[in-house]
Parts: sequence; structure tokens; C-alpha cells
Amino acid sequence: MILVTGGAGFIGGNFVLDWLAASDEPVLNLDKLTYAGNLQTLTALEHDARHVFVRGDIGDTALVPQLLARYRPRAVINFAAESHVDRSIHGPSDFIQTNIVGTFNLLESVRGHWSALPDDERAAFRFVHVSTDEVYGSLAPDDAPFRETNPHAPNSPYSASKAASDHLVRAWHHTYGLPVLTTNCSNNYGPYHFPEKLIPLVILNALAGKPLPVYGDGQQVRDWLYVKDHCAAIRCVLGAGQVGQTYNVGGWNEKPNLDVVHTICRILDELRPRADGQPYASQITFVTDRPGHDRRYAIDATRLADELGWKPEETFDSGIRKTVTWYLDNEAWVSNVTSGAYRDWIAQQYER
Ligand code: NAD
Ligand code: TYD
Repeated sequence: MILVTGGAGFIGGNFVLDWLAASDEPVLNLDKLTYAGNLQTLTALEHDARHVFVRGDIGDTALVPQLLARYRPRAVINFAAESHVDRSIHGPSDFIQTNIVGTFNLLESVRGHWSALPDDERAAFRFVHVSTDEVYGSLAPDDAPFRETNPHAPNSPYSASKAASDHLVRAWHHTYGLPVLTTNCSNNYGPYHFPEKLIPLVILNALAGKPLPVYGDGQQVRDWLYVKDHCAAIRCVLGAGQVGQTYNVGGWNEKPNLDVVHTICRILDELRPRADGQPYASQITFVTDRPGHDRRYAIDATRLADELGWKPEETFDSGIRKTVTWYLDNEAWVSNVTSGAYRDWIAQQYER
């Protein structure tokens, strides 16, 4: 069995679904179900005995050791985090609590469990920490993409908290020998993405006839990766990664935000044209920029390709078309998500 934390979120949910589609090894899924956790993503596993869901906090130092002792997972894959930069600007406290203190507590719970394992199980055990390219800071237009050797230079409360968690994970390996691996991935997109992030927000706002908010001049560059390619990379790292190593994961798909928004509009014009015949791009609205907005992220994933043979299957064109189609085809999931806490957040963020 493997223990997945944050497996009701966007990437963790896709990871659990893909894992159980390809393998019969059970998953223990520990998730706090914050606003970003959505059990509807896992509806297909409702009656599947291979999926054990536990609502709980990675920082719970009573619950996590109990779960480890009871289920004896051979690996932990840590997705659980507060993950939205804009939320981290409005309220950094949860980011410090989950991403730093929570990761610390999880490492300590796992270390206690791991150090008491028999030799063979201890040697085979893995702790995979899922992190972000945002820990490396911002690139100038002509800078080379981030390599694993770039220094951490985080600029937002979110990226600073993730950088801190990466350092803790690294130290638990160097000091205690915990068999860790860290992945630093670029921006993901795809099915089950919570619609406060750029790509799902634009798709759903477009369909609802709402403005498509582009921060600043829209020329900030992100390196987009289809979520299922990220999940495949994590499986590679878990299976064959070198203990103590970090691996950058990216799609070689650098795009300015405004291009991404126009691409989505064009696909929607084709698949679900507006009733009045106008292009969706007419809904684009430039809004006040994010404070401290990083200008460019780009990932050099050569290590992962050379050492583990991973490469993305989707291009941006194929992945974004799949994603738009998924949102058009999954109205039940969308309407569930677009109620409640999500609406409150949208009101706070965009109606001020
Ligand atoms: P998400 O916000 O969609 O999901 C996070 C999940 O973690 C939610 O289900 C939430 O309920 C759960 N969670 C939050 N705090 C918890 C806690 N204290 N204990 C247990 N569960 C908790 O995030 P995501 O986009 O799926 O990202 C997953 C991971 O991947 C994060 O660590 C993030 O930093 C990293 N990452 C994300 C991206 C991206 O583009 N989304 C890119 C690179 C790395
Ligand atoms: P986001 O999806 O929040 O991911 P991240 O901040 O982790 O990169 O944002 C992606 C890019 O899109 C980022 O440069 C901010 C920008 N953006 C907008 O222009 N408008 C929006 O409404 C949102 C949510 C993001």
C-alpha cells in the first residue's frame, strides 16, 4: 500500500485515479478536505476497496503515526498543501501551518515509523515530496530554465512556504537518513482543477458570460504541464528515483498568460460558440496585477529525462483541448465545485 496525502485535491486526485487504474496496490488517502479537497473527484472509487479515505491533517501527530502503524505503507507521497498564490497573499497563515509545520510534523511521524521498520522494509521505504518550480523565484526573459541546482529564491508566501518544506525534507534525509525524493514541477492543468486557478477559471467564466480577468499586461510566462504527465513523472521518481535527489518536472511549454487565455477562447469558439456569435475573447478584461507577481517560470527537466526516461505525452495544444473538453463534459463536477466556499472566494477576490 502507498499513503497519498492531499489525494482529494487537483493533482493528488488525478494521481490516485491514475494509480488505481494502472495497479492493484491499494491507496491510503489522507486529506483534510479544505476548500480545495473534493471527494467528488474520487466518486469512481466510492465502492473500491483498494481506496481507503481518511479525513485528517498531515500535521496531526496522533493520527498519522496510528495510520502508519495500522496500514504499513511502503511509501508516502506528499501532495497535501495550501497551493494558491493569491490566497497566500490574502492570508499566509494557513500556508505556514500546513506547508511548513504540517510537513515538519509529517516528517517526524514518518521518521518515527520508518526507523522502527525491519531492515528490508526500511531500505525499500520512500517519502516523495511534491513541490513546485515557484521555489526558484522568477526568471528574466533570456535566463536559462530552472535546473535542480538553481538556488531557492521564493517571492510569495506560497513559494516561501514550499521552499521551507523542501529544505525540511532535504534535512531529514541528510540528518536522519530518511529516504526522500523531491519533485519540483511547473504549472499543472487538466481535469478536476479547482476553478480559482487561471485555466479552469477562464473556461468557466467564459461559459458563464463573465469577464476573463488577466492580471497586469498578461505577459507573465508559465511552463504548463498536463496533470497526467506530472502524475507519470511522480510514479517514475517513486519507482526508480535516486534517494535524496530532487527532480524538476516540466512540459517545455512556456506560454504568456494572455496566449493561454486566447487559446482557450478559440477552442470554446469552435466547440461551444456563443449564442450571439461573438468571440469569447471579447470577455477578456485586464485587471490589477498580483503583488510581487513572478514574471517567468521555466523548467529544465533534463535530469528526469536522462536518469529516468520520463517525457511528457501531451503537447500544450493536445492537453488544453482535452482539458476544455473535460470541463464541457463534466457539468456535475463543475456545479458542485462552483458552490459554497468557492463563491465566497470569488466574491472577495474579484468583486472588490
Ligand atoms: P490543491 O490545493 O488542489 O489540493 C491540495 C489538497 O491538500 C486538498 O485536497 C486539501 O484538502 C489537502 N490539504 C490541505 N491541507 C492539508 C493538511 N493540512 N492535511 C491534509 N490535507 C491537506 O493542490 P494541487 O494543485 O493538487 O497541488 C498538490 C501539490 O502539488 C501541492 O503540494 C503543490 O504545492 C504542488 N504543485 C502544484 C502545482 C500546480 O500547478 N497545481 C504545480 C507544482 C506543484
Ligand atoms: P495560477 O493559476 O494562480 O498559478 P500560479 O500563480 O501558481 O502560477 O496563475 C497562473 C498565471 O495566471 C499567473 O501568472 C497569474 C495569472 N492569473 C491571471 O492573470 N488571472 C487570474 O484570474 C488568475 C487566477 C491568474
